[in-house]
Amino acid sequence: MSSCQSILNNTFSRIATLPDSGAVASYIPELAKVSPDYFGVCITTIDGHVHTAGDAKTKFSIQSIAKVLSLSLVLSKLGDELWKRMDFEPSGTAFNSLVQLETENGIPRNPLINAGAIVICDILCDLFKDPKRELLDYLRMVSGIKNLEYSEAIATSERLTGYRNYALVNFIKSFGNIKNDCDQVIDLYFHLCSIEMTCEEIAYTFGFLANDGKQLNTDYIIVTPSQSKRINAIMQTCGFYDEAGEFAFKVGLPGKSGVGGGMIALLPHQYTIATWSPKLNAHGNSYRGMKFMELFTDETQDTVF
Ligand code: DON
Repeated sequence: MSSCQSILNNTFSRIATLPDSGAVASYIPELAKVSPDYFGVCITTIDGHVHTAGDAKTKFSIQSIAKVLSLSLVLSKLGDELWKRMDFEPSGTAFNSLVQLETENGIPRNPLINAGAIVICDILCDLFKDPKRELLDYLRMVSGIKNLEYSEAIATSERLTGYRNYALVNFIKSFGNIKNDCDQVIDLYFHLCSIEMTCEEIAYTFGFLANDGKQLNTDYIIVTPSQSKRINAIMQTCGFYDEAGEFAFKVGLPGKSGVGGGMIALLPHQYTIATWSPKLNAHGNSYRGMKFMELFTDETQDTVF
């Protein structure tokens, strides 16, 4: 991708000059404080090139993007045992929906919706004596950010307004699919979602999923090639909730969004691409991030399809 930087620059200026649309997430009050005008992009190739545009070095709340990393930790520890606790099917519903759990006996559709990520947090509470510490150590290792911390301001803000997540953890527990204390599990979940990174850091962090499970630069094995393939498949089918089909249709890459306005997508064996623009569309996905990735893959024609 020698012309990567110029395609990135052109795509970035085209999207930056179009009117933005949607709204910054406000159901977590701390997120509503973020300026809607930020726009950053970073592309990292697996052979070590980094291309950026805009606010690629500003930290923001990565929110649900972190769910891919909690999945990779649990999958690397449990292997296929994980699938006794949840499925790997798209939900076709909003990220915080409760409806399918009623008829599906508390088994979440997949690990990237809130219900699934909460069960992942329950498993982490079983696996570790100090799950909050172990999760943070893992996120530091995978991202290479040695001083990474949870944002207590975001975790607290989310706790104070997290009515649906409290409902989810209690509802799932009523089916027996939460083993630990609901307060401990949901506290871990809120901390997972509170992680802050820049586009540049996210693009590097997710490099292992474009590199058969091995960390970029170090070749450290984070997950096996087969687990990497499966995580990418889950991102492709479930990473954008009820907009996953549209993302596959328009962008054609496995990816994941967060309500902080961040998005990550990747082309195995080639590159990762992280975007950040806080205004969200009606499905909770970044408006400009979606537009950017669609135009970028139209220009490069580098997609999984
Ligand atoms: O639990 C929540 O509602 C948020 N912490 C995470 C939601 C999220 O990022 C969904 N993504 N698009």
